[in-house]
Amino acid sequence: CGIFGYVGPREAEPILVDGLRRLEYRGYDSAGMVTLTGRHLHLRKTAGRVGDLANHVADKPAPGCIGISHTRWATHGAATDCNAHPHLAGSGDSLVAVVHNGVIENYQSLKRQLEAAGVVFRSQTDTEVIAQLLAFHHDGDLLATVRRVLPMLKGTYGLAIVSPRDPNTIVAARLGSPLVLGIGDCEHYLSSDPAALIGHTSKVVYLRDGQLAVIREDDFQIEDIHTGPVDARVETIDWELGDTDRGEFAHHMLKEIFEQPDSLENAMRGRLVEADASTHFGGLNLDPQKLRQAERIILTGCGTSYHAALVGEYLFEEFARIPVEVEYASEFRYRNPPIDRNTIVIAITQSGETADTLAALRESKRKGHTTLALCNVVGSTIAREADGGVYLHAGPEIGVASTKAFTSQVTVLAMLAIYFGRLRHLSALQGMQMIERMRQLPEIIRETLTCYDDVRRVAQRIHTARSVLYLGRNYLYPVALEGALKLKEISYIHAEGYPAAEMKHGPIALVDADTPSIFLIPRGGLFEKVMSNLEEVKARGGPVIAITNDGDESQLAHLRAKCDELILVPEVPEFLQPLICSIPLQLLAYEIAVLRGCDVDKPRNLAKSVTVE
Ligand code: G6P
Repeated sequence: CGIFGYVGPREAEPILVDGLRRLEYRGYDSAGMVTLTGRHLHLRKTAGRVGDLANHVADKPAPGCIGISHTRWATHGAATDCNAHPHLAGSGDSLVAVVHNGVIENYQSLKRQLEAAGVVFRSQTDTEVIAQLLAFHHDGDLLATVRRVLPMLKGTYGLAIVSPRDPNTIVAARLGSPLVLGIGDCEHYLSSDPAALIGHTSKVVYLRDGQLAVIREDDFQIEDIHTGPVDARVETIDWELGDTDRGEFAHHMLKEIFEQPDSLENAMRGRLVEADASTHFGGLNLDPQKLRQAERIILTGCGTSYHAALVGEYLFEEFARIPVEVEYASEFRYRNPPIDRNTIVIAITQSGETADTLAALRESKRKGHTTLALCNVVGSTIAREADGGVYLHAGPEIGVASTKAFTSQVTVLAMLAIYFGRLRHLSALQGMQMIERMRQLPEIIRETLTCYDDVRRVAQRIHTARSVLYLGRNYLYPVALEGALKLKEISYIHAEGYPAAEMKHGPIALVDADTPSIFLIPRGGLFEKVMSNLEEVKARGGPVIAITNDGDESQLAHLRAKCDELILVPEVPEFLQPLICSIPLQLLAYEIAVLRGCDVDKPRNLAKSVTVE
């Protein structure tokens, strides 16, 4: 979910709508706002998108220069008008309005207690419990009431609260859900994500867990819920507004796919060092001695970031010769795997806010392990809590389906593999060769993007399929998983990624004339093997699409004879194949989703940043 708040000299409503539009990637099941004029509170909320809320306030404006707003990704209670935030409770002096991101785990017992005391609930949400508790305990001092009520809550929250009793103040609180305060000129903003503040201000204060903020037009104050006022650390963000515009592209996702030559260049800038035949990182915060002693690495993340971690496993094992395990963050946090002393846990996350990844990181720290984070969003919770890390510098990723962040993650993992490798077994010559190849990446990706015409043809052919198989081996097995995930996410076609040789042990039963198989089969050591797998599918009447390289005419002729379609991409060394082969799969998912009339940037049921467990 996304929270946006404003207090200042201007009308709040258009600022809130604009803020919510920029946060909509965090959830789009319903949207709402409340503004205040003196002691009058104006509530507007609706199921549906921020656009629906904008229409609603166009008919029925919400006046006032202070307000809080919310865009929801439903957890408790369906996506209805009634369950939309803000939630109101109380009346007269005790009236409060609350927007909330997170999950209150003990809401049912709190609700029962309040109901026993005669409180009547209107919604099915966990959030309403917070509003009702605040109203129930309201003693005329909003801040003091918030301080008293918060310790009763178990779970996670980012909260913004207003009350007509104190009509010039927003109270915000954070525990496990991000909130950032934006400092303007005699005006202040509150947002779940600093990116939504771009264009308003570049001066921000990140709230920390356990902190409250009291925000007014001309001042603000941060305090720890237990110990009282703390000095606020004002930081500067340096993204530009253009980064979040679609420009001439039809969708953010397409723009982000085409940004990859630049995003990879930014990921590598200043980090490839020929003089050492190695890579350098500013923020690892660990001395090489400690890194050299690492006996095991655990890579953890969710969704697309988990797939980047799987590519990382191949990279680290091949070049750094360190045993690697890859864990879904959501599983890792609740398991109790025996972990060696010299284990480094690396959390991989675009947003730096994914609740499961954050919990896995905290659990690892608690057990005394060294933690690193690969994050895109600067200043995000995971970036700040890890012992050290590497920023992806991919710029804001708005499309819900991750594209450029994935290739940046893989690029950073390749650079880290060189770094660890050069501390251990990798020779200067090997390091040098890898660096040279990586330097060419932006140009090669640019060339790869010209496969778009091939991809469009393939999309026309298969966009009505009910199921699609993605097959690859070795470095390309995680890419097959990621290709299938992209298609599922944005086109709602069932898809499965599988190791090409493993499919004969089960999924081959799915093959029929309506189930296309997409083979990742670039030139290289396993070409012949994957070719056999491809023939097995063809022999059973399944349509076959191959992603391969130009160059070797006899191999190509062989492929042409067996395949229904070919997509050609440039030839690169094996360790860079995941980057090159992801591009046509991203474009294919995009084209198919467009042909099927799907909402590419905001696929149903999903959110970009999942800050609940
Ligand atoms: C959500 C998104 C995915 C993303 C995953 C992890 O589920 O829909 O696209 O890969 O979260 O996000 P992170 O920000 O941690 O990389």
